Amino acid sequence: MTMSEKKLKVVVGISGGIAAYKAVGVARDLVLAGHDVQIVATESALRFVGAPTLEAISHNQVYSDLFEGVAEVRHVAIGQSADVIVVAPATANMIARLAVGLADDLLSTTILASRAPLVLAPAMHTEMWQHPSTVANVAILKQRGATIVGPASGRLTGSDTGPGRMAEPEEIAAAVIAAAAAGPNRHDLEGKRVLVTAGGTREPLDPVRFVGNRSTGRQGAALAAAAANRGASVTLIGANLETEIPASSEFVAVSSATELFETVQARVSDFDLVIMAAAVADYRPAEVEQSKIKKEFAGEELNLRMVKNPDILASISRDRRAGQIIVGFAAETEPDDSALLEIARGKLERKGCDFLVVNRVGWSEGFATDGNTVTVLDRSGNIVLATSGSKLSVANSILDVLH
Ligand code: C5P
Repeated sequence: MTMSEKKLKVVVGISGGIAAYKAVGVARDLVLAGHDVQIVATESALRFVGAPTLEAISHNQVYSDLFEGVAEVRHVAIGQSADVIVVAPATANMIARLAVGLADDLLSTTILASRAPLVLAPAMHTEMWQHPSTVANVAILKQRGATIVGPASGRLTGSDTGPGRMAEPEEIAAAVIAAAAAGPNRHDLEGKRVLVTAGGTREPLDPVRFVGNRSTGRQGAALAAAAANRGASVTLIGANLETEIPASSEFVAVSSATELFETVQARVSDFDLVIMAAAVADYRPAEVEQSKIKKEFAGEELNLRMVKNPDILASISRDRRAGQIIVGFAAETEPDDSALLEIARGKLERKGCDFLVVNRVGWSEGFATDGNTVTVLDRSGNIVLATSGSKLSVANSILDVLH
């Protein structure tokens, strides 16, 4: 196996059709290629092929019962750790259940509890394959990103022939490996050290008050989680995060821009890729009062004098070592698309970073939302990505274009 052909955690799901005996070949091909295979069979699959055969071939216990291993929340554990899931054979019934998102046995529950790419190898009689229900269900699953391998045309279980025969194990195993290579757990960042800053800085006014912004750190946390999933060793420096901290990253908490600056400066040279997603305050109060500012003393008006914070992104871009990639963010309220791009290109120039991720923010846009819409510019100001989606899928798309 080469670096790009990392050992994968493959869930081989088997549903109840006569082609279940060919699933043995799928599991065998994947094991021989060096991958870790976990078989999850439906109850009816185990009537076609015995668990001892499957266990001997996969070198792992076969799971089938949703009510076994409940303490370890088995379906979630298997689903979350999978790099890719294949269902071979995928019966018409299984396809229908997946299309509506049913979760009534271990296999369907595992699939629903996973973000891993899904490969389906349908096997059924021609009439069932061509039935409008199956056609519609397959279309739904394809549209959600599932890879459908086969079915081939050929001799079916009875004396009839036609489309519905499960694809051959080698073809299915190849599709599984290809799907994993495009999935969120792909190992393309193996060996890379990634630093992500996230959240919004708070600039203290006095012991209890601050000047802040509405960034929650969700996009940055998603970038950290996505990079770690793809094999990177990740450090997340978070300023006042209002989101879950990914367990897969080293985490350093900071609050003000000055603290963020000092922490980044001290650590930055250790990293290959630096993503500055934090919303850093451009100014901080010139004086921080040591006790609470009192209205009794301030009177009718309070004037705050603010001084400029160091520009962390510009400073680390200027001092970066050869091969280090630095990514900045630009959150802008400009409504016009071409004006937004012009602002971004100016910022890219001033900051001197390698890539700039531009997104629009506003009273209801950008912050504290599950989704995001971004445009990524390279050093020369060319658009290398324009995408929308969940913050995690946007994170993966951003990582795709950074190397
Ligand atoms: O200039 P502006 O704040 O729009 O730039 C945004 C980008 O610069 C972000 O990547 C942010 O993390 C970074 N930044 C910084 N230091 C500052 C201000 C912004 O690193 N003082």
